[in-house]
Amino acid sequence: MDMTQTTLIEKFPGVYEINHPFVQHKLTSLRDKNTPTREFRMLVEELGILIGYEATRDLETELVEVETPLEVAQSPTLKGKKLCVVTIMRAGNGMTEGVLKLSPSARVGHIGLYRDPQTKLPIEYYVKMPPDLDQRTIICVDPMLATGHSATAAVHKIKDMGAKEIRFICLFAAPEGLALFREEHPDVPVFAGVIDSHLDENAYIRPGVGDAGDRIYGTK
Ligand code: URA
Repeated sequence: MDMTQTTLIEKFPGVYEINHPFVQHKLTSLRDKNTPTREFRMLVEELGILIGYEATRDLETELVEVETPLEVAQSPTLKGKKLCVVTIMRAGNGMTEGVLKLSPSARVGHIGLYRDPQTKLPIEYYVKMPPDLDQRTIICVDPMLATGHSATAAVHKIKDMGAKEIRFICLFAAPEGLALFREEHPDVPVFAGVIDSHLDENAYIRPGVGDAGDRIYGTK
């Protein structure tokens, strides 16, 4: 039985694809154009939990003493830096809810970027972060790593604001976006549900899910 659930992608060092059957099954449901908004939103949140779980496997723990009804035991608890989830609005918000299920006391930073329709480059319109980014492990969240421009810009921004230990999670990634992200941020591991085929001429991930924000929030 092959128990590997996270594959390190050879072509992109530091990029992990989560090949757990539940993750792959849920991603397939997201792809389906007939999946209704309510279910789409629920799946994105669930995938936030599952991919967030894989992306935090290496968090440090320490043993503490705990008194069970039967005896005193040494048992692990989380140690070290606290978490901050940084959501790239607006599509990141749905997945962030899932990550917060893992760590309800994590802080949340927001970064608003929109894509200029002509240049396809990100334009920043909102940033609000907790003050102590340098003291926290950051999980940066965007379901679609497409051109990589937004992801790259968001990570540059939080590094400028002091963030040192960052990991990036997404549902779908395009090879083109991963190449750019690796080049700009070789120190930031990426955990992707799946690496798709390519970007189309409108910078949509193929086969992808279409516009993730629209499908999460039922807009057009
Ligand atoms: N953003 C989306 O929502 N979908 C894509 O395919 C690419 C970027």
